[in-house]
Amino acid sequence: MNRETISLLAHADHPIAAPLDDTSVRLLLERAVRGGDERLLDLGCGTAPWLLRALAAHPGVTGAGVDTSAEALELARAAAEQAGVGSRLRLHRRDAVGFTAAEPFDVVLSVGAGHAFGGLLPTLDAARALLAPGGRVLAGEAFWLREPSAAARELLGDCQDLAGTMAEVAAHGWIPVFGHISTRQELDDYEWCWTGSLAAWALDHPGEPGSAEALAASAGHRTQWLEGYRDSFGFVTLVLRRTDE
Ligand SMILES: C[S@@+](CC[C@H](N)C(=O)[O-])C[C@H]1O[C@@H](n2cnc3c(N)ncnc32)[C@H](O)[C@@H]1O
Repeated sequence: MNRETISLLAHADHPIAAPLDDTSVRLLLERAVRGGDERLLDLGCGTAPWLLRALAAHPGVTGAGVDTSAEALELARAAAEQAGVGSRLRLHRRDAVGFTAAEPFDVVLSVGAGHAFGGLLPTLDAARALLAPGGRVLAGEAFWLREPSAAARELLGDCQDLAGTMAEVAAHGWIPVFGHISTRQELDDYEWCWTGSLAAWALDHPGEPGSAEALAASAGHRTQWLEGYRDSFGFVTLVLRRTDE
């Protein structure tokens, strides 16, 4: 069972593949999509939950999603058809790094996919290259709630505390016009969903080849979360505009 499949099973019961609940996703989208006729781009869209919600809420919005996972994009395509928004969604299976388009986008999203670019600032640089004048970026990234253990740093890579993150974002010419810091409940719900959905799938499919592996991955992830990073992992999602727009 590859990492993509494990990730899709693990995210099956959560609104998006990041620690945000339905209300937070809705409020962030309301601040990012203001007019209802925007062109949206999601870099690292996964199953495209952000785009699908925006398309369903605004009949005039069009969306493009970029991801390397064929499985995730197939689920996105099927969900878009089911929701009747398929004609307004284009999906690109390719590396989001270096993605180009003939026309710029009014809103560029990238939530939980910063590792593809090497962190939040390079993600914002990539978004900026694709953003129309006056456009908004909706980006979600990890930060340290408190000094991480060596194990947490090893697992999650390098990031800053929230104040340091925001100082860097501002120094790069971005102004937050809205933001959401994932609550303890959102952070914990996300991990319970991740580990629980994967374990439930394994228990429901005892004869499948990947079943034992999925159960082990669930247990391993739970140990890493509880013993490694639960106390230090935070997540912030920002709606940003340029200072020089
Ligand atoms: C944690 S998921 C987030 C998905 C989605 N943004 C969401 O909020 O539900 C990260 C996604 O980034 C995708 N990804 C990772 N590296 C990528 C790359 N270099 N180019 C495009 N997508 C990438 C993964 O396939 C995965 O779907």
